[in-house]
Amino acid sequence: MCGIIAAISRDDGLENAVISALERLEYRGYDSAGIAYLDRNQPVLCRIRATGRIENLKRKIAQRHIDGTIGIGHTRWATHGGVTEENAHPHACNGVAIVHNGIIENYQQLKERLKRNGYCFDSETDSEVIATLIAYNISDGLDFTGAFLKSIRELTGTYAIVAIHEKEPNTLLGAKNGSPMTVGLSPDGMNFYVASDAVALSSLAENIAYLEDGDCIIAENSDPAIAYKILDKSENEVVRQVVPNSISLKSVNKGGYETFMLKEIFEEAVVAAATYDGLDCNVDITKYGAISIIACGTSYYAGLLAKYFIEELAQIHVDVEVASEFRYRNPVLSPNSLYVFISQSGETIDTLCAMRLVKQRGYKTLALINVDGSSIAREADIVIKTASGIEIGVAATKTFIAQSLSMLMLCQKKEDIKMDQITSSINAVLNNCQQIANAAEKMKGSKGLVYIGRGISYPIALEGALKIKELAYISAEGYPAGEIKHGPIAIVDEDVYTISIAPYDKHFEKTISNTQEILARNGKILLITTKNSAGAVAGIVDHDNVDVLFLCDVEWPYQAFCMATAIHLLAYYTSKAKGHDVDKPRNLAKSVTVE
Ligand code: F6R
Repeated sequence: MCGIIAAISRDDGLENAVISALERLEYRGYDSAGIAYLDRNQPVLCRIRATGRIENLKRKIAQRHIDGTIGIGHTRWATHGGVTEENAHPHACNGVAIVHNGIIENYQQLKERLKRNGYCFDSETDSEVIATLIAYNISDGLDFTGAFLKSIRELTGTYAIVAIHEKEPNTLLGAKNGSPMTVGLSPDGMNFYVASDAVALSSLAENIAYLEDGDCIIAENSDPAIAYKILDKSENEVVRQVVPNSISLKSVNKGGYETFMLKEIFEEAVVAAATYDGLDCNVDITKYGAISIIACGTSYYAGLLAKYFIEELAQIHVDVEVASEFRYRNPVLSPNSLYVFISQSGETIDTLCAMRLVKQRGYKTLALINVDGSSIAREADIVIKTASGIEIGVAATKTFIAQSLSMLMLCQKKEDIKMDQITSSINAVLNNCQQIANAAEKMKGSKGLVYIGRGISYPIALEGALKIKELAYISAEGYPAGEIKHGPIAIVDEDVYTISIAPYDKHFEKTISNTQEILARNGKILLITTKNSAGAVAGIVDHDNVDVLFLCDVEWPYQAFCMATAIHLLAYYTSKAKGHDVDKPRNLAKSVTVE
């Protein structure tokens, strides 16, 4: 959460580099954005900040000419303090400016101490204390680097921080603990960058290095070239491996689609095929007595779906847990279990910390990630990378497909998986998108939505409810269809839509009975089923309150994939129908690096 970029620019490209990086980082948070830089001719600190999208910041920047050599930028996902310009980064104090991603847990104590020393604060953020603390340590006689290193040692919490100081205009400093940070030089060596992820540097640096927790970076715009060094937590100089930046700009565009999310949903069949082709899963899960899957959000639902796959096909017990609960409840671990961590970004702090807990206790960890070089990828014992390509839309879509298929490939032999059924049924849904758009038009005014399903349709129901909540801002819940009579059915009336996910599988009759119970209470229904149920649904489809979406007849468990595509499109079109920004839904960010 929050995107940071910093640059030393020996040519005149500072503004372009920082702004283009911020645009690519906007998916990490879009409550406000800002930059600070030192003017090339007269090194005074200049700061420009704006609430809302980068567009607002760009409009402000257009009013002046930025001619700087060194600068920092930030996109904010608000944690401490509302969405105001005062709370926007960079924060500054006495010529020191910083941007920060993470949470400083002891900021109140530090703030009180600094106030007692006469310092004032302009914002409600935890981050401002960092700039003030550095300024205070400078006033105490330290140079910028010494003050920075001393200040970092006083912080508790998670952070990726970069700092500049107008009195030392050739120095750029950074530090990382818990939040990701990467560094790279431009191919001609004229520019040096620090950023919160490789995407930010996709057009700037071909090779990058990932910093480790406790690392600090000291970069100097010196002659004849930019020089930088990395210090580890004991302040010893270390070398971090330089790797190619695998993110290419080509993959960071909408490819002719109106939004990234629509493009990414329309890639779901291709991503499934690429996942299948690219993955040779040589993990033998049969040697484990049980499997624990730990993840958050949509990745958690991919884990829940995997439970149905693995228990049915491999007959191995599977637990699935939300990472933020797992890590704090002193879990009882077993040496016979395989611990699987699913995370698209590879940076979700709860999933990362849950994995560290398992590793500390000496057990085997497998990570299913989509981002090379991410923290989870670097720390897991076994890594499986999904072949989704970068996902920019804040809501996970194609990565859910890739995660779910990768998990299926852990328990079903590659040659036994009927990929043609998966891809053709997804494509059929995509070809039928207008019908889903029509259903969305009907649902957009609902006061609430209920998604129900049994078996593999239950995790899909949960995923559908999450997706429509985050995109269309309609209160929605996913339930096992058999559970609704235990309470949830009380909310059903003519203003509540139920999305009943009932492929023609062994649960079909029971889910239809539950659907009838809702219909009997005047609820409106969108029934998502498969074509081979046509005879069996005859009694329900003629009802005025029922719309039906027929998917292809495919074997268990391949329906999971086209059902996922259908509920992704449904959320997409409902959000569009309500006029929302589907790529950047309110209050969210793509990479969740705070607890
Ligand atoms: C929902 C969504 C989130 C993420 C969750 C975990 O559309 O995108 O619920 O799935 O934040 O993120 P990762 O997979 O990066 O760990």
